[in-house]
Amino acid sequence: MGKEIMVLGGGVIGLSAAFELKKRGFHVTVLEKNKCGGQASGAAAGMLAPLSEIGEDPDDFFKLSLESLRLFADWQNEIKKVSDEDFEYKESGSLHVVYHEADLLALQTRLAWQSQWGVTARLLSAEQVKEKEPELSDQIIAAMYYPEESHVYAPGYVKALETACRQLGVEIYENLGQVELIEVNNNVLLKSGQGQQFEGDELVICSGAWAKELEDFFALSIPIYPIRGQICAYELDQKRIGHIVYSSQGYVVPKANGTLVNGASEDIAGFQTDVTEKGIARLTNWNHHIFPFLKELKPFHTWAGLRPATQDGYPFIGQLKQARNVIFAAGHYRNGILLSPITAKIVGDLVGGKPTLVPIDRFSPERFS
Ligand code: FAD
Ligand code: GLY
Repeated sequence: MGKEIMVLGGGVIGLSAAFELKKRGFHVTVLEKNKCGGQASGAAAGMLAPLSEIGEDPDDFFKLSLESLRLFADWQNEIKKVSDEDFEYKESGSLHVVYHEADLLALQTRLAWQSQWGVTARLLSAEQVKEKEPELSDQIIAAMYYPEESHVYAPGYVKALETACRQLGVEIYENLGQVELIEVNNNVLLKSGQGQQFEGDELVICSGAWAKELEDFFALSIPIYPIRGQICAYELDQKRIGHIVYSSQGYVVPKANGTLVNGASEDIAGFQTDVTEKGIARLTNWNHHIFPFLKELKPFHTWAGLRPATQDGYPFIGQLKQARNVIFAAGHYRNGILLSPITAKIVGDLVGGKPTLVPIDRFSPERFS
């Protein structure tokens, strides 16, 4: 009989891990304090954009992210098939735009090392950028074009993941209140806020920005912090934009329904997920440098979520040496949607005792202890 795996947290990471584990023949239970997808995962812009966002260094994090981007097309197809739910997944390509001559060197350096990783990228002049996206600002002097970068509609993706998990027979418990760890020695024992107990063989910790709460239990240093992201959306009268546009001050993502998502601020506000005037103004005061027509428009929707940031910017993915039946998969910061397929596959490999697809030593959950 397959092992019983408890997954703590029903965000995109917990649901993806649960889906993969169930497919591999394990019994899987997801324990969620509130609603699945109700935190960072449902708030995301849904960019699958490691080439724009993680462009500084070809390290193990870049490898993890690139591998996940390349897994995404098949992964999302599988989720759609199993859930029988559709959600937007668009291989739109992206433009990483720059405004100053000094930024060109950084793009050229990127192009050199990213090409060695088989990345398709092209440095475009201002004129070539305008051919791709005619309404972009004249202040833009160049852009890197990444045809591989894509996006999903995050709330739809997470909802389909939940449905796919249920279809396969994953048990999902929501609205449990705070779930506490009681023991992880022989068996794993957890207790919900209402006193319900859950028992299994192994535990996968996917509690996002809340993972630090387990520091005392494991006597580990778990520097994962919530970084609030405030974000907004515009309703365009027609589908005017085709690509993700990424700049150092913010990004826009055009969705199939004609809305343009504009993200996202970064601030420290504890676990508050409210939207502030200042946070949204940071976006609306800048975005006309991307598309001048935005100056005349007002966002029709604003929201916020808590990114699970880590002290060194790398996620916590791996088994504990002190308790081999405990796996961390948390701290995905700005890229949890992108990293959901690779994280699920790594968790599946760890539980199954197989080598992982990519190196994960750099992401050890014990690296700060
Ligand atoms: P969460 O979605 O926060 O899920 C964690 C879950 O654990 C929560 O549901 C919580 O209730 C539950 N939980 C916590 N503690 C307990 C407990 N003790 N008991 C039971 N349940 C518990 N990423 C991208 O890849 N692309 C993007 O374009 C992108 N844009 C973003 C834009 C914004 C504005 C924000 C805020 C984030 C964005 N991200 C993006 C980042 C991405 O959303 C996160 O990295 C990802 O959602 C993290 O997923 P998670 O499952 O770890 O966390
Ligand atoms: N990855 C986009 C964001 O976190 O805002």
